[in-house]
Formats: sequence, structure tokens, C-alpha cells
Amino acid sequence: MQKSQHREFDSVDRTTDPDDFVKYLDTTRATDFFRHIKQRTLELLELRAGETAADLGCGTGEDARAMAARLGPRGRAVGVDLSATMIAKARERRDGDQGSEGAVEFLQADVQQLPFADSSFDAIRAERVLQHTPDADAAIDEMVRVAKPGARIAIWEGDLDLFIIDAPDYETSRAMQRFICDGFRHGDIGHRLYRKFLECGLVDVRATPRVGRFTDFKLIESAFDLPSSVERAVTLKLIAADRAARWLESLREADRAARFFAAIGGFITFARKN
Ligand SMILES: C[S@@+](CC[C@H](N)C(=O)[O-])C[C@H]1O[C@@H](n2cnc3c(N)ncnc32)[C@H](O)[C@@H]1O
Repeated sequence: MQKSQHREFDSVDRTTDPDDFVKYLDTTRATDFFRHIKQRTLELLELRAGETAADLGCGTGEDARAMAARLGPRGRAVGVDLSATMIAKARERRDGDQGSEGAVEFLQADVQQLPFADSSFDAIRAERVLQHTPDADAAIDEMVRVAKPGARIAIWEGDLDLFIIDAPDYETSRAMQRFICDGFRHGDIGHRLYRKFLECGLVDVRATPRVGRFTDFKLIESAFDLPSSVERAVTLKLIAADRAARWLESLREADRAARFFAAIGGFITFARKN
């Protein structure tokens, strides 16, 4: 099946405008919802001075730097990302931040094949990377391999089975939600982590649901490239062209009237390695 269109975070460097992905991450990080997710995942890791921790799929590196600040000068934080653009930006921001505490390194690597020895980290964090990773199971196996016995792992993944776009034409919203979810490599990864963690033999496994509500149409339009997604759904005859156009226009109208409403659910999944 042809995919819906969304941000190609699996191949940022090959896109026409990698800097636009940096801007997108800056925009999402500034929302109340993602501020909460970042704060909560960090708290769950209970980082202690002198420990070693990794943020996988670290993007522009702010979360790895927040981890480094908690680990202190004797600790070690590592941010890993597949994209050279992201790693360059993360290093540039780290080097430009005079006030930053703690040592943080940024490495270009694939989460499916981590360049670390077994049992390297006391804590591992990952946010919004597994939904883009071709073999998400392999990536989780890698996280477990590089975690020390007793290490804490905290992952946030949205779950596009829990994606709502409010519109008068509910059926089209439903069809688009499904199409968008299926367009991701793993649109449903949020709820699958709980089972996968248990299958990996992790203990103290907890999946905490969170729902973010978004009233900024531009953010949702950009995250899921709604105009091209709608066009593809029409090409595939999932939605009639006139109905699709009316649906998209109803969202724009809602935006103009300041009543656009969407919500995305997901899970913070936490566990310890035995
Ligand atoms: C949606 S962004 C999230 C970035 C960051 N975690 C944040 O919350 O701001 C996904 C990130 O994962 C990276 N990525 C995608 N596939 C990856 C892989 N296989 N290994 C490592 N990083 C990957 C992308 O380059 C991108 O920076």
C-alpha cells in the first residue's frame, strides 16, 4: 500500500531541507505537552551524579544535555542520532552553551546497531525514534544489550492509533487517522512497547498513557504533511476528492476561527534491566 506523507525522520540528511526538521523539533519541544514528556522521562530515569546515560535518537541534543547536567562532571552522557545534520546541530548548541554542566558527547550512529559494549549505561532514554526505525525490535534489543544490570530505560512514543483530528466529517477524520498511522514504519509502537519490554525480560515495566491536545493547525499540518497525505488518500481512492477537499478546508476554517482541535496519545514506557 502506498504510504501517507509525514516527516521523513528516518532519512533527515537526504531530505531537501534538513534544517526544517531542526525547526520542527524546536517547535514541538516548546509545546507544553512535549515539555511535560521530557521532564517526566528525565525524572523516571532518576539519574545520579557520576552515572553514564544515553539519549537515543537525540535530535538536536537538548535532552542529552539535560541528562548530562544531572550526571555532573564525573558522569557521562551520550546523544546518538542517525542524522549528521542533527549531530552537527547538537554539537554546535552544546559548544555555544557556556553555562552547560556535565560532559556530553554526540555520536552519529544507528539505534539498531549501537557502537557500545554490552552493559555500558546506567540509564537510557529515547523519544519519538522507534516509530521511524525500520527494525524497532532490533533497536530495543540493542538498548537492552547496552544497559547495565539494574539500568533504567524510559521511552516516549506516540501511538497514532490514538490520534484524533476533530472535523464535522468524522468518517474522513477516521479514514485519515488510519491512513496516517499506517504510513509510519511503526505508528502503533506506543502501545507495543509494554509487551516488547516484558518479552525482553525487563522488570518493573510500566506504561503510562499521556494525551497531548493541539490547537495549532500548522503544527499538525506540518507533522503529517496533511495536504500531500490527503492527496495520496484520494489517489488511492480511500476518500473521494471533493470530500477530501472539504475536509481539509474545514480544518483550515477551524484554524481561522481558533477552534482547531487535535489530540495525540502515547505512552511513557519505563523498565529496569534485571
Ligand atoms: C522525531 S525526532 C526526535 C528527536 C528527539 N528525540 C527529540 O525529542 O527532540 C527523531 C530523531 O531520530 C533520529 N533517527 C531516526 N532513525 C534513527 C535511527 N535508526 N538511529 C538513530 N537515530 C535515528 C532522527 O534523525 C531524528 O533526529
